[in-house]
Amino acid sequence: MRAYKAKAVERISLPDRAEREANLREAGYNVFNLDAADVFVDLLTDSGTGTMSDEQWAAMMRGDEAYAGSESFHRLQKAVSDVMGFERIVPAHQGRGAENVLYGTLVSEGDYVPNNTHFDTTRAHVVNSGGEPVDCPVESEPGAPFQGNLDVDAVRDLADEVGAERIPAVVVTITNNSMAGQPVSVENLRRAREVADELDATFVVDACRFAENAYFVQQREAEFADASVAEVAREQLSYADAVVMSGKKDGLVNVGGFVGVREDDDLYERARQRGILYEGFTTYGGMAGRDLEAMAVGLREAVEQEYVASRVEQVAELGELLQEVGVPIRTPTGGHAVYVDAAEFLPAIPREQFPGQALVGELYREGGVRGVELGEFAFPGEDRPQLVRLCLPRRTYFREHLEHVAETFAAVADRREDVVGLEVVSEPEMAELRHFSAELRPVE
Ligand SMILES: Cc1ncc(COP(=O)(O)O)c(C=O)c1O
Repeated sequence: MRAYKAKAVERISLPDRAEREANLREAGYNVFNLDAADVFVDLLTDSGTGTMSDEQWAAMMRGDEAYAGSESFHRLQKAVSDVMGFERIVPAHQGRGAENVLYGTLVSEGDYVPNNTHFDTTRAHVVNSGGEPVDCPVESEPGAPFQGNLDVDAVRDLADEVGAERIPAVVVTITNNSMAGQPVSVENLRRAREVADELDATFVVDACRFAENAYFVQQREAEFADASVAEVAREQLSYADAVVMSGKKDGLVNVGGFVGVREDDDLYERARQRGILYEGFTTYGGMAGRDLEAMAVGLREAVEQEYVASRVEQVAELGELLQEVGVPIRTPTGGHAVYVDAAEFLPAIPREQFPGQALVGELYREGGVRGVELGEFAFPGEDRPQLVRLCLPRRTYFREHLEHVAETFAAVADRREDVVGLEVVSEPEMAELRHFSAELRPVE
């Protein structure tokens, strides 16, 4: 049951089929090129797309826009300290800004950075700082409770291979976005802490979805069955030396982020100076005072049991509705999205003709639903499953919208033999960025 109700609403409308067909053609069969106004249920991302509470909007009016020493900064600092346990913070305009600040400070040419799985901007910032990102996910049985965990032995093997002195940081991303939003256990975070100590490395947690992770821990890790989500949230982060945060997720805001440092004054000071260079002075760092206020309130709301339970359960609800109409999805569902196995849903379309992207196009054509392909189109030449991700913005959609998504899938399934693959017509120079702007057309 959702422990909130709507106070402000935004009109959405479903263009008629002919308009949707035309929009899709004009967008070059790439839904990033669609106007949001032409999308009915937008499941492109959960990043910065959620709904703020009345308390957050009210707090924005208190925004202190002073360049230096803003009171809004102090309120954010207090919230991060209370909710996450970090007193030293360097604010940034969003997660990747915080990543630039932290990894630019920690990583040098020739270094290696292990992570349970690097999110794409994390990978890019490690590379940009001269480092080599190394993914160390655990191998899990289907249905296992903590499929996002770090393989700590793989980190030890890496250290044996390259030398511990070449590993400045061990990173764990909670939840593991690139692994279908699967959670990480506290037990695994403790082991990650141990390995970081062995290597004399900084232990960093990418905490974007720390509240969702805490909820999974409470539900699945016996030791925490009686703890509150707020208690678990602090406990799981207590092992980290530093956090990197995109507030656009569990900060429950539309923009903003920060680096948090526990007690390493030298690291904090160097990150602070880099923050001033790239993000802005330490007491605003790329955010307006009103944005700092909204995040200060959002962080506290994110660990309220009723909120986070309904958030994670809504994702599960979408997964169940899809399974009822026979859609193959990854289970158990993660914290922020449902992942559909497009190759299984559209078996006649070969990988080179982008079954995921074909499905994304059909979902828009059929029901004005926007998801995102994470397969051969987004990651050309990589040996990955052909997935479509349906991300739920926080506190935004109702059950009717989820039912509409399931009905849309069912309608596409009914005519799946007629769905054709796609080919790329134009793409940008950087292959890694092609899914944002490339244009396609149906294969003849
Ligand atoms: C795990 C993770 N880290 C970092 C980022 C980057 O955050 P932002 O989009 O705010 O730059 C994201 C965004 O999706 C993410 O999921």
